[in-house]
Amino acid sequence: MGKRNREPETPRFPVENKICYVLFICQMVAVLSAVSMVYLTVASYVPSLKAIDLGMDETPIMCTTLQAGAAVEDANWTTCGEWCLSKSSGGAAMQIWVQARNNGSTLRFENCTETSYRVCDIFPSIESLDSYYCRKDECKTLHGLFNCSEGICRNVTDWFQCKLDFFEPPRRCIRRIDCFHITGLHFCDNGLCFRANKSYDCEKLCPEIPSKNKNIIALMGDQNVLANCQKVVHIDSNETLWTSELQKLLMISCHIVNISPDKKTLEATDCVDAVLRPLSIFGDRTNFSDVTKIYRASTDLLPSSQSGYQIPLEHELVIFNRTKLHINIEACVNSLRDECREFFGIYGRDGSDYRSPARFPCLRSVIRSDFVVTRFSMTQTLLELILTTTVPMTLFVVSCTLMVICSKLVVVGNDNAHLTFAYLKKKEDAEIALAETDTVANHKII
Ligand SMILES: *[C@@H]1O[C@H](CO)[C@@H](O)[C@H](O)[C@H]1NC(C)=O
Ligand SMILES: *[C@@H]1O[C@H](CO)[C@@H](O)[C@H](O)[C@H]1NC(C)=O
Ligand SMILES: *[C@@H]1O[C@H](CO)[C@@H](O)[C@H](O)[C@H]1NC(C)=O
Ligand SMILES: *[C@@H]1O[C@H](CO)[C@@H](O)[C@H](O)[C@H]1NC(C)=O
Ligand SMILES: *[C@@H]1O[C@H](CO)[C@@H](O)[C@H](O)[C@H]1NC(C)=O
Ligand SMILES: *[C@@H]1O[C@H](CO)[C@@H](O)[C@H](O)[C@H]1NC(C)=O
Ligand SMILES: *[C@@H]1O[C@H](CO)[C@@H](O)[C@H](O)[C@H]1NC(C)=O
Ligand SMILES: *[C@@H]1O[C@H](CO)[C@@H](O)[C@H](O)[C@H]1NC(C)=O
Ligand SMILES: *[C@@H]1O[C@H](CO)[C@@H](O)[C@H](O)[C@H]1NC(C)=O
Repeated sequence: MGKRNREPETPRFPVENKICYVLFICQMVAVLSAVSMVYLTVASYVPSLKAIDLGMDETPIMCTTLQAGAAVEDANWTTCGEWCLSKSSGGAAMQIWVQARNNGSTLRFENCTETSYRVCDIFPSIESLDSYYCRKDECKTLHGLFNCSEGICRNVTDWFQCKLDFFEPPRRCIRRIDCFHITGLHFCDNGLCFRANKSYDCEKLCPEIPSKNKNIIALMGDQNVLANCQKVVHIDSNETLWTSELQKLLMISCHIVNISPDKKTLEATDCVDAVLRPLSIFGDRTNFSDVTKIYRASTDLLPSSQSGYQIPLEHELVIFNRTKLHINIEACVNSLRDECREFFGIYGRDGSDYRSPARFPCLRSVIRSDFVVTRFSMTQTLLELILTTTVPMTLFVVSCTLMVICSKLVVVGNDNAHLTFAYLKKKEDAEIALAETDTVANHKII
């Protein structure tokens, strides 16, 4: 008893070591899974059950951004918050309001020639433009249209055409002191700068759009596709809605236009507001503002087809005139990758910066009308719910069971100090008993 090898490599009580190890692991797993169950109640079960309750419709509808900005109106909601566990810290607490509507028509433009595609975007941000620092005497020779702020002037000549009214006497930026704090939109002529009245009216410049021999103009926000096609077919019903025999120009607003590699067929999704104009209304070349103006002013709708199908008008499709946009059901993300900023860059375009408003697919709840989301998947929600429920529960049950089993199997050894397995103790007891009987027998013989 108690006689063991004293070699340093082997533990003195290998059985006890194993038992301690198993107990330690079991307890750790039990505690961790219990903690994770509490955490997941907040982080996963409640949101998942809420998502299931909301009855999200998984077929996307279309949303158009109406207004985007920092949280002002009622600061108790935000479109996208970084980190879901703290409700208050929104980071960049932005709010996006959208209009939600049903999809427009999906169309195919057939046998097209002279297809051309044009993007009329403007600079990504005012900071990205060439700037001139009046403080450093760089404004002496300004020539063109400049948007200035506190003595920093940016050249917007190539981007806008403006109708300006001037009421103030001009400043001579040849003298540095005059233009130190120059602010506002200025028209400058070799250093002589006229400040425009605040209520100026600018259009973005996008000239030289080729409109010669075109009978289709599809507008997609800041992009245009122009082509000369033979017919337009409604994909769902296979009905011809327009042919070139009408001798009219078709103008239509769509979400995406896919141009086939040979440029002969165009496929357009979510098309609304189809109008007809005289064929040569734009002449050989036109510009973006004329296209937009003439399209908006048109009331001559494309007549319905033989069976009565008509490309819908946007306002007829409206589901919610004005509703909140949330990035997902929770209105927050946990990725900590600045995802919200990225999101606002794409979805926060509300038309106020001379860009066209964002138009994108979104999802709605069948029971709530006060918000729509951009991301939701029922399968993923259910999968997450099942995983987050079963994995910690299973671990908890398994580790607890193991501990109960251990408590049955483990006993204090014969030395009254160390743990051992019950069956080992029995074996040892049996050996001792045997040894004792042997000794007794030996004594008797002696
Ligand atoms: C509406 O359009 C979106 C995007 O183009 C599409 O994913 C969705 O399936 C369409 N919805 C219906 C009801 O056709
Ligand atoms: C947010 O505030 C508005 C009024 O300020 C209130 O009507 C609305 O119920 C609030 N929403 C939530 C979710 O608390
Ligand atoms: C389109 O072109 C194909 C062959 O190029 C022709 O078979 C077809 O009839 C044309 N469609 C129309 C509507 O003219
Ligand atoms: C501003 O841009 C216009 C057009 O590109 C150019 O003609 C003009 O010289 C520029 N002004 C300055 C001060 O660089
Ligand atoms: C000029 O700059 C201001 C502030 O940066 C901006 O609000 C305005 O839209 C700009 N105007 C033009 C014509 O670029
Ligand atoms: C700027 O124009 C608006 C209307 O276009 C006018 O009411 C206002 O008085 C003008 N500002 C100045 C300083 O004249
Ligand atoms: C667009 O073209 C029309 C007529 O050709 C012209 O009057 C207008 O100034 C142009 N606008 C822009 C922003 O280029
Ligand atoms: C539409 O017409 C084409 C041939 O013109 C045919 O191949 C296709 O099956 C039709 N689709 C439907 C939905 O009727
Ligand atoms: C949206 O607003 C328009 C005009 O304000 C109204 O006629 C229409 O009924 C509204 N639609 C919905 C769905 O609220």
